Amino acid sequence: MAEKSALPVNVGIIMDGNGRWAKKRLLPRSAGHDAGMKRIIKLVEYARESGVKYLTLYALSTENLSRPKEELEGLFTLFRKYFEDYAPKLIGENVGVRVIGDISALPADVADKISRVCSRSPSDAPFTVVFAVNYGSRAEIVRAANFAAELGGKVTEKSFAKLLYTADIPDPDLIIRTGGEIRLSNFLLWQAAYAELYFSDVLFPDFDNKQFDKAIKEFSRRTRRFGKI
Ligand code: IPE
Ligand code: IPE
Ligand code: MG
Repeated sequence: MAEKSALPVNVGIIMDGNGRWAKKRLLPRSAGHDAGMKRIIKLVEYARESGVKYLTLYALSTENLSRPKEELEGLFTLFRKYFEDYAPKLIGENVGVRVIGDISALPADVADKISRVCSRSPSDAPFTVVFAVNYGSRAEIVRAANFAAELGGKVTEKSFAKLLYTADIPDPDLIIRTGGEIRLSNFLLWQAAYAELYFSDVLFPDFDNKQFDKAIKEFSRRTRRFGKI
């Protein structure tokens, strides 16, 4: 039977529009990323209170790594700051902090900081924030396929899903994209098989708690059929 959706367990956000937010204000793109990080800090708190169990934030795609060095440096500085000043506090409050993606391609100190913080993430957290950093679905799927080949034997959907970065994370029920583009840009392609998609024109730094509520409300109005009638 088709089910009316209540609260999503895992909400993914493609946080797009930081650059355009800055451009509109005649500011450098880095100012848009700074404003985006301020939003992340608030949204994590808000999502946690709202009762969702996972918030999966697309912070850097594999393709984003080819952006100008200067912009990347600014983003790495923000990662340093987040994992130094905010993530440890969350862990102290029993919030899970996880990263999916290949952080080994980041500057060594950033990768090191992220993995040290995430290694302390509680395993029984009622709420977890998952950062997708140097994440791309295609790279994730190819990586899993290589693991499967090394292991040998028959692959099933279930066994394959266990080889993805998201092995023990539930599939996203709702994926929000801010910034007006109607595409997934290599985000959770396998996991999004039955996700509800929500596209907002609001640029990420302006995507406030009210906007988040609006998306959750829209989700609750959707009927998820999962191929059934
Ligand atoms: C999203 O904002 C953040 C990252 C990709 C890191 P953009 O930087 O893509 O902002 P726009 O799309 O240029 O406005
Ligand atoms: C998607 O935004 C990646 C993140 C939000 C981290 P992009 O700005 O990179 O996506 P495209 O290039 O418009 O598809
Ligand atoms: Mg963009």
